[in-house]
Amino acid sequence: MHKQVDTIKNNFSSSIQNCLDLETADKLRVDLLGKKGTITELLKGMKDLSIEDKKVFGPVLNQLRDNINTQIEDKITELNKAKLNKQLLAEKTDYSLPSKKRKTGSLHPITHVIYEAESIFKELGFVVAEGPEVETDFFNFEALNFPHDHPSRDMHDTFYLNTKENHLLRTHTSNVQVHVMKKMTPPIKVIMPGKVFRSDSDVSHSPVFHQIEGLYVDKKVSFAHLKATLQYFTQRFFLKDTKIRLRPSYFPFTEPSVEVDVLCVLCGGKGCGVCKQTGWLEVLGAGMVDPNVLKNVNVDPEEYSGFAFGVGVERLAMLKYGIDNIKLYYDNHAYFLEQF
Ligand code: PHE
Repeated sequence: MHKQVDTIKNNFSSSIQNCLDLETADKLRVDLLGKKGTITELLKGMKDLSIEDKKVFGPVLNQLRDNINTQIEDKITELNKAKLNKQLLAEKTDYSLPSKKRKTGSLHPITHVIYEAESIFKELGFVVAEGPEVETDFFNFEALNFPHDHPSRDMHDTFYLNTKENHLLRTHTSNVQVHVMKKMTPPIKVIMPGKVFRSDSDVSHSPVFHQIEGLYVDKKVSFAHLKATLQYFTQRFFLKDTKIRLRPSYFPFTEPSVEVDVLCVLCGGKGCGVCKQTGWLEVLGAGMVDPNVLKNVNVDPEEYSGFAFGVGVERLAMLKYGIDNIKLYYDNHAYFLEQF
């Protein structure tokens, strides 16, 4: 028995030294300590020994088993550690490598123009307000002094909705003027951007487009304030020494009313394809708020006056970026949108 133990010890010490991988270590464990392992078999054979022999070999075999077990466990831990280190070294991140390129989106040109216009009007003390796109006749027409059955309603190519209340899609952002004036008391100084809807479609018209409405109501607001405000806006927006021209016009909710032209930003007034050789581009409608509108929202026209204007956003963007077809805004082609 002593001899057997010695042989096991000797063999083991050389085996464990030569053990260089986990499979060998595991095989060694199975060979010695597994169900049919050499040491296990010796321990099984203990039952046939005399009491004296049991007393001698019991502790010897137990010690041998524990000793070998610990050594194998240590070996396995050591090999696992080496394996992990090797793996970590192989997978080491190289922070100097260039990163993957990610495409970032950009703002739609319409959004760009709205943000830019908002920030210019904020410089003049305006605040931003929004209102509903689905509207009643009252807010879109009636309160804005469009008489029933009046031809001025025909200019708007209105989309009516099939509801009990005869809702409609707003044809302009002027409806927000009414909401704002009903809620606030003057002084009121707001700009109101948003989508508007008209049943009209060609290279320069889309059934959905955007407007920015402006409204200033206070004591002693005059036409001079309107003109100065629009001059300031167009010059800041087009970043040029832009000139504007006012032409008499008609809107039911403003009196007097004007159409505002900007000296063609592309040809500087000489005449070109974009301004149809006139040298001027029509960009907005404006005027002094009609006293009837003020009365409709319970503002006293004897005490207060105001001006209002409405700008077409697509028009502004077309002129600023030289875009010649309104459909480009809505086709969602990346090669177009990426430019902004
Ligand atoms: N709402 C008018 C339109 O859509 C524009 C406008 C707004 C005119 C405010 C005067 C004052 O054509």
